[in-house]
Amino acid sequence: MRVDILTLFPDMFPGVFATGMLRIAREKGLLDVRTHDFRRFAKGVHQSVDDKPFGGGPGMVLKPEPVFECLESVLGDERPLPKMLLMTPDGAPFTQKTARALVREPRIVILCGRYEGFDERIRQGWPFEAVSIGDYVLSGGELASMTIVDAVARLIPGVVGHGLSTLKESFEQGLLDHPHYTRPASFRGMDVPEVLLSGDHERIAAWRHDEALRITKERRPDLLRNLPERSD
Ligand code: ADE
Repeated sequence: MRVDILTLFPDMFPGVFATGMLRIAREKGLLDVRTHDFRRFAKGVHQSVDDKPFGGGPGMVLKPEPVFECLESVLGDERPLPKMLLMTPDGAPFTQKTARALVREPRIVILCGRYEGFDERIRQGWPFEAVSIGDYVLSGGELASMTIVDAVARLIPGVVGHGLSTLKESFEQGLLDHPHYTRPASFRGMDVPEVLLSGDHERIAAWRHDEALRITKERRPDLLRNLPERSD
C-alpha cells in the first residue's frame, strides 16, 4: 500500500514511521508512506499557506493554491484518482470498520489541515472524504493521519505476525477484547482464572466470549446496540 501525506509539518512523522509495526510494514515492503510539504508550493517571499477569511472573523484559512499544486505534483496523470482523505474534526468518524475498508485501497492520499480551516474550494476541486478521529479539535491533522496509517497498516496481510490476532481483538467482533494473562500463573496473590489453565479449548472460548460481553456491557454499552449476529 502506498500512502502520500500532505502536511506543513513533515518533521512530525519520521519517528512514528520508524517505530514498531509501521517500521515492520515498511521494511517488509508492504507499506510505502511518504510526506509532502505543501509549503514548497506556496508563492511569494513569505511562502504563506494561509490567509485571513473573506467575510472577516478570527483565525486563518488554508489557501487553495499550494494544496492544489502539491496534489497535482503528487498525483500526476494518475486516473482514476486514489482514495483521498481530508483530516478534519467535521469529518465522518474513523472506526475499525473504516480501517478495514481502507486496507483494500492500493493507494491513499491524506491532506492534513492546520489553522482554522481549509478554503472550501479544496473540497470542491477534489473528491476528498472528510475523516475525523474523534470529537475534539487537534491543532492539525497530522496526529489524525498517523492514527489512520497505524490502524490501517496493521491490517495489511503479513504485517501482524499472527493474522488471527487482528481478527480477535477489540472491535473486530463488535465487542471489546477479553482479558489476557501470561506467566506466572500466580503473581502477588493474584491468580490466573482456572479455566485458562484447563486446556479445555471449548470452555476457554466460552469464557473469553462471556468476558468480552461483560466488559463491553460495563465499559461501552453503546457498542452492544450495533452487535452483529454471531456466525459460530
Ligand atoms: N484535525 C483537527 N482535529 C481533528 C480531528 N479530531 N480529526 C481529524 N483531523 C483533525
